[in-house]
Amino acid sequence: MTQLPFSQACENNQRPILAVLTHKLADSLHLLEVGSGTGQHATFFASHLPHLTWQASDQHCNLHHINCRIKHFKLPNLPAAVVLDIGNTWTEQHYDAVFTSNTLHIISKQLVEAFFAGVGLITSTNANLLIYGPFNYQKQYTSDSNANFDLWLKDRDPHSGIRDIEWIVELAKAQQFELVEDVSMPANNRLLHFIKR
Ligand SMILES: C[S@@+](CC[C@H](N)C(=O)[O-])C[C@H]1O[C@@H](n2cnc3c(N)ncnc32)[C@H](O)[C@@H]1O
Repeated sequence: MTQLPFSQACENNQRPILAVLTHKLADSLHLLEVGSGTGQHATFFASHLPHLTWQASDQHCNLHHINCRIKHFKLPNLPAAVVLDIGNTWTEQHYDAVFTSNTLHIISKQLVEAFFAGVGLITSTNANLLIYGPFNYQKQYTSDSNANFDLWLKDRDPHSGIRDIEWIVELAKAQQFELVEDVSMPANNRLLHFIKR
């Protein structure tokens, strides 16, 4: 376990996120997490939300370490992570909830569009979609730290960058998802809650 990838950000944000998820996911049973990263969120949230099955996923290159972490925790509601590349064919499995954290600013705009198209395919009416991360409002950064973060992201990959919330809401709407709450989170992040109508 000590040799597995570790994210301090996950450690810092998991409790504030859990406080929101506990309420939002009270009636959900099958959740897909897109871009599970280290798997820390999957193990933490699955252990605190035992009423739902938490299906972790990521690109193939991340699966091994995510599954090492998942195996270590031995949680009945946390199956092995599956490969899900946002730009490829999505799983045929249906879910009543989807969660993703800190992914939409890492991937390209085309992949953000593919993310919403994929979420639209695997969900039905009343599904919850929860998206955690930083967003811009009316093309403005919400803090200097987010502006610096965006510069850092674009320096690394010019296709990445903090997304405009208005665009995200529009993409969600095209898949029948309505923004029902935009929760302010620590460190200038947001937790967007959409419901499929
Ligand atoms: C900044 S990390 C966030 C990880 C984790 N969700 C968290 O909050 O710590 C971005 C994640 O997006 C994933 N990712 C990047 N491109 C992807 C793609 N095309 N399909 C699926 N996941 C992707 C990465 O593998 C990584 O796990």
